[in-house]
Amino acid sequence: METAVAAHWLGFPKSQVHGVSLFGEIERLIADWVEQARQWSHTGSWPWFDMAEPTGTIAGTFRGSCHSRPQALNGGGLGGEHGPLPVSRESGFYHEPVMVNEIVEFLAPAPGRLIFDGTLGGGGHSEALLRRGAQVVAMDQDAHAIRHACERLKTYEERFCALHGNFRRFPEILAETGVLGFDGMLVDLGVSSHQLDEPERGFSFQKDGPLDLRMDQQALRTAADLVNMESEEELERILREFGEEPQSRRIARTIVKARAKKPIRTTSDLARIVEGVTGRKGRRHPATLTFQAIRLAVNDELAALRQFLELAPRWLKPGGRLLVISFHSLEDRITKQAFNHLATPFCDRPEWPEPRPNSDFCMTLVTRKPVEPSAEEIARNPRARSARLRVAQKLSKTTA
Ligand SMILES: C[S@@+](CC[C@H](N)C(=O)[O-])C[C@H]1O[C@@H](n2cnc3c(N)ncnc32)[C@H](O)[C@@H]1O
Repeated sequence: METAVAAHWLGFPKSQVHGVSLFGEIERLIADWVEQARQWSHTGSWPWFDMAEPTGTIAGTFRGSCHSRPQALNGGGLGGEHGPLPVSRESGFYHEPVMVNEIVEFLAPAPGRLIFDGTLGGGGHSEALLRRGAQVVAMDQDAHAIRHACERLKTYEERFCALHGNFRRFPEILAETGVLGFDGMLVDLGVSSHQLDEPERGFSFQKDGPLDLRMDQQALRTAADLVNMESEEELERILREFGEEPQSRRIARTIVKARAKKPIRTTSDLARIVEGVTGRKGRRHPATLTFQAIRLAVNDELAALRQFLELAPRWLKPGGRLLVISFHSLEDRITKQAFNHLATPFCDRPEWPEPRPNSDFCMTLVTRKPVEPSAEEIARNPRARSARLRVAQKLSKTTA
């Protein structure tokens, strides 16, 4: 049972795990994973959820599991109410969280409040919430981020729990924790600086590395698989829809020609092919939009966001807030449309004689326009410049 539950948390449906556990060798392998999962997939003690007690099996399997001291203890933590991160660039910099003041203001973390951080990353937002006494359930599909943040936030393990998985499936992943609802939910989309800066992850065309671009290292399809195997038409669609790349057709055609001679294996291979088509103009690297498009496709990021936005409102307590930080217009448009829909009491269509009640209506808009980072923050952290924050709030009385 323990094996099945832990493997389930690692992303396998329970039924599948029960099936394979009949075979000794596979069972041994799964037991190894369980041990690994104990060490890094989760931290924190379940009973603090202040809700239904979890089942004995889960509490027993996953109670408190970080091993070494968190880096956050070095240098005394966040330094002031909203001060800089404790982890410096020199000593293992991971990611500088954006708009921390705004996140704290909108989520009002305090003792007794339970907040979901769907994009744990370097743990900066989670730490800001934990420092103010909130309880945090966090998730990330990148196993490395989970390991790093567990280490960093170990000091909060009584109030913090980190789960490996995609936020698009958070209800499934949370199913056996006993959590019934949140006072606030946050997703800070896109990639972390760590992912961008590590050449082996293949996110950056500035650094040579394998053409990977997977946030979840267990995902089956890499960017190289996509670039070498998709049809020209599909590549063109990906570049056009996810990159809004004006030269999508020419780039797709050139990729298909190039791969017929030799598989495209590295970030530099792809960057060179794109540059050969578009040439260098202006300050932006010619492969920027192509890499954005391929990353969104490999990680199915927009579909994940849509799915999360459909599920999240049902998990908010009355008055609970939903925060989305996006980094490009496609994500922001999806968030804006979803929030507007959730905040509209009646729907209308030309073919209907009169407006009809919107059965999804359960939120009100807290921000009508997206909130942008301050000039001071952008000067300090240029990667924050395209961040846009939208906030909606669950109504006190809803049918959703
Ligand atoms: C911009 S970083 C978040 C940084 C974080 N807020 C912090 O304070 O350090 C985005 C993180 O979200 C993760 N991520 C992106 N999409 C995800 C998804 N659908 N499910 C789970 N994690 C996701 C990425 O792996 C990455 O670690």
